Amino acid sequence: MIVESSLTETRSIVRAARQHGRSVGCIPTMGALHQGHVSLIEIARQQCDFVVVTIFVNPTQFGPNEDFTQYPRTLAADLEMCHAAGADLIFTPPVTTMYAGSAQTIVRVTKLAQVLEGAHRPGHFDGVSTVVAKLLNVTEPGRAYFGQKDFQQQLIVRQMCVDLDLPVEIITCPIIREADGLAMSSRNRYLSVVERKQASQLFQTLKLAENLAENSALPPPEIARQMLDYLKSVDGIDVQYAVIADALTLELLTDRSNSAVALLAVKVGSTRLIDNQILRFR
Ligand code: PAJ
Repeated sequence: MIVESSLTETRSIVRAARQHGRSVGCIPTMGALHQGHVSLIEIARQQCDFVVVTIFVNPTQFGPNEDFTQYPRTLAADLEMCHAAGADLIFTPPVTTMYAGSAQTIVRVTKLAQVLEGAHRPGHFDGVSTVVAKLLNVTEPGRAYFGQKDFQQQLIVRQMCVDLDLPVEIITCPIIREADGLAMSSRNRYLSVVERKQASQLFQTLKLAENLAENSALPPPEIARQMLDYLKSVDGIDVQYAVIADALTLELLTDRSNSAVALLAVKVGSTRLIDNQILRFR
């Protein structure tokens, strides 16, 4: 496994692999890796000949009051996990490599990035789409792997690749969860023991939505209302949104459509958590 912080070196190593006929898969991450990230690397390992993991805590996707400086940085452990999962190349650029002081370009997806996470975290998705465009430009993969955990993010990345004619197939991988259902996240380590218990109610809320979708005739807004009521009944949880949306457009659903996703965002103490679940109406 090669670990590389130089952009030009990374580009030429991946190009050499491609010239040798090897298919390339890329997994963009911000490090602090856990089994969720590892599952993406393992899926890429099965589907591609050459697997590149990028580790970069991207400053432009953090708001002024968010946790950029506190975001966990655990490079040594990350590299061990990448190695064990079979990665070939790790690209870990410093901030100055990714953002020259003179940079003037932002990649902005419009409609999809304005709602939900976009409404609560102004500028967040500009940072995400810009850095992902750059990372895909450097690594030029045939496939790039994203988690369903960040449901809106994978939709936005897909839209960006279509709109910018980037020749990369976006693969969305299942959410990996802890034993009690909490979706794995680098931010879970901020939770106290009490908060950690409260956080497990997110999964219960999604199970409630799934159960109502499959075993009742209730319309989506009523299911969303029950999700909200359930979350509000949990001590220590501050709900930001709990909705049922179209899984392609993210427009709020009024009818029991075939393509639906329950999405929620909460704060548990000072930690912001998101989760989601695809719904199938009976
Ligand atoms: P990060 O939060 O490190 O996540 C990297 C990838 O891992 C994302 O595609 C995310 O959806 C996926 N992931 C995280 N937790 C997961 C889980 N429990 N199960 C499955 N997949 C999971 O998302 C980012 O970084 C950044 O925004 C990035 C795309 C790297 C751009 O900076």
